[in-house]
Amino acid sequence: MSGSDLVIAAREARRFACADFSSFKVGAALETQDGQIVTGCNIENATYGLTMCAERVAMFKALSEGHRVFRRIAIVADTEAPTPPCGACRQILWEFGGDLEVILANLARETGRHTLGELLPHPFDTRLL
Ligand code: THU
Repeated sequence: MSGSDLVIAAREARRFACADFSSFKVGAALETQDGQIVTGCNIENATYGLTMCAERVAMFKALSEGHRVFRRIAIVADTEAPTPPCGACRQILWEFGGDLEVILANLARETGRHTLGELLPHPFDTRLL
């Protein structure tokens, strides 16, 4: 599977975003070790604070379906500037996905590529417990 397939899946997932409060729709697509794609979108609600980002929805869906090893994640928003994962998502992606490739894109093109290790240097994880 190419990175562009993953971005296309993230764009599709973004259409389902529940973003009535911010109107900022995000889609994510996580690629498992065996090449399956698990998608997520951001989900906001009336308390605001219980909002769940697209990346964590994708990761929690994948974990709940038994997936444990991951290669890459694509994240899509409708912005010119790249939308990198928030701090909470970096932590969860790191703990469950390790040093993933992170592909950022908007509706028209790819806007950036990073490793999660670059985005979350000096992480706290189970090695430190
Ligand atoms: N959001 C994501 O889903 N992922 C990101 O990487 C950045 C932010 C969501 C959370 C909230 O629903 C909206 O975007 C605005 O912050």
